[in-house]
Amino acid sequence: MEMNGKRVFIRVDFNVPLDGGKVSDDTRMRETLPTLELAIAKGARLVLASHLGRPKGTPNPKYSLKPVAEHLSELLGRRVEFASDCVGAEAEAKSKALANGGVLLLENVRYHPEEEKNDEDFSRRLAALCDGLFVCDAFGSAHRAHASVVGITRFVQKSAAGLLMERELAYLGKAISNPERPFVAILGGAKVSDKIEVVENLMKIADAMLIGGGMAYTFLKAQGLPTGASMVELDKIDLAKRLISEARARNFRLVLPVDHVVAAAFKADAEKKTASIADTPETWMGLDIGPETAARFADEISSAKTIVWNGPMGVFEMPAFAQGTLAVARAVAKATAAGATSIVGGGDSVAAVHQAGVADQISHISTGGGASLEFLAGAKLPGVEALTDR
Ligand code: 3PG
Ligand code: MG
Repeated sequence: MEMNGKRVFIRVDFNVPLDGGKVSDDTRMRETLPTLELAIAKGARLVLASHLGRPKGTPNPKYSLKPVAEHLSELLGRRVEFASDCVGAEAEAKSKALANGGVLLLENVRYHPEEEKNDEDFSRRLAALCDGLFVCDAFGSAHRAHASVVGITRFVQKSAAGLLMERELAYLGKAISNPERPFVAILGGAKVSDKIEVVENLMKIADAMLIGGGMAYTFLKAQGLPTGASMVELDKIDLAKRLISEARARNFRLVLPVDHVVAAAFKADAEKKTASIADTPETWMGLDIGPETAARFADEISSAKTIVWNGPMGVFEMPAFAQGTLAVARAVAKATAAGATSIVGGGDSVAAVHQAGVADQISHISTGGGASLEFLAGAKLPGVEALTDR
C-alpha cells in the first residue's frame, strides 16, 4: 500500500489491562509495533484507534486510552499525539497536523454507542480522519462487527490487514485448513457452553482432542462417571453424550481426565487430594487434572505436529490447582522444540505459558481470545471479511 504523506487509519487492539493508570501487560501493543513501524517507515501519518474495556457508549476516565498513548510513545521512541475524542474537530485538526511518520492515538471508540452499532454515519466520521486508507491490525477485535473494525471499510478506498493480523490468520488458518498431522487440540476452561462450536469444529479437523478444566466434568458425567461436587452443566449432558458417541463411531481420540485433584471447597487453601475419577468423593470438587491425566496428555502432545491450546486444565489462578495446566504448557513447549507448530490462545492459557516460563518456546501466542475461538470454531470474522485489499 502506497502511503507516503497520507493519513492512514489503523485499527489496533489496545484493549490492555491497566493498573494504577499504567499499562500492566503491553503484549498486544508490542505485537502490533511491526505494523506501526512499517507505516512510519513508509512515511504514513498514523491515526490509531482502539477500544479499551466496555464503557458502554459513554465517556469514562477509567477506560481512557491516555495512559496507553504514553506507553506507546515509550515503545515507539517517538512522540504520540492524543485526541480526547475519536471523532470531531479536535481529532480532525490533530490528524491534519501530523507530519510524515507522525502518530496520533484517538480516545476510546466505545465512548460512542454508535461504535458497537456499526453505525453508518459514525463510520463515515471515523473515515474522515484518514486519506482513504484503512489498515486493520486488531485481530483481537476481528469478531466484532463494529464501526472502527467493519463500518469504516465502506468509506475508504483501500482496506488491508496489518502484519499482526496477517500473522494470526496465517497460523490459525493453516491449523484449521492444512495442518501438519497429527493435530492435537487441547481445550479447557470452566464451561462447555462457551466452547461447543470449537469442540464440534475441531473434532472434524484434528486427530485428537484433550479436554481438561471444568468443561471435562460434563463429559465425564455423560459417561456415567462420578463427578462429586464438580462443575457440571446439566443442560449440556446430552450434547456431551452425542459428541462422545460421534468420537467413538469415528475412532476419534477424545481424551478425558482419568484422575484429578479434588478439594473440599472452592478455595486456594482448601483441603485437597488426588483421586481417580472413579473414586471421586461425593462432596468434593475437581479443580485440576491429576498427574496420570497430565502424563497421558503430555504423551499425546509429544507426538503432535500441530497443537492448538485454549483454556486452562484447572483453577490455574490458585497455585494449588495450577500443576496440570503448567504440565501441559511444558509439554507443548517440548513438542514445539521437537518440530511441532503450537498455537496458544485465550487469556489463561497464555498466562500459563508465561508462568511456566515457556512463552518463547511456543510457535504462536494469539492476541485474540474471543476472536481466536470464533476462528477455530469455523466462523468467518467480520473484521477480516470486510478487508478488500488483503
Ligand atoms: C478482547 O479483549 O478479547 C478484545 O479486545 C475484544 O474485547 P471485547 O470482548 O470487549 O469486544
Ligand atoms: Mg473479551
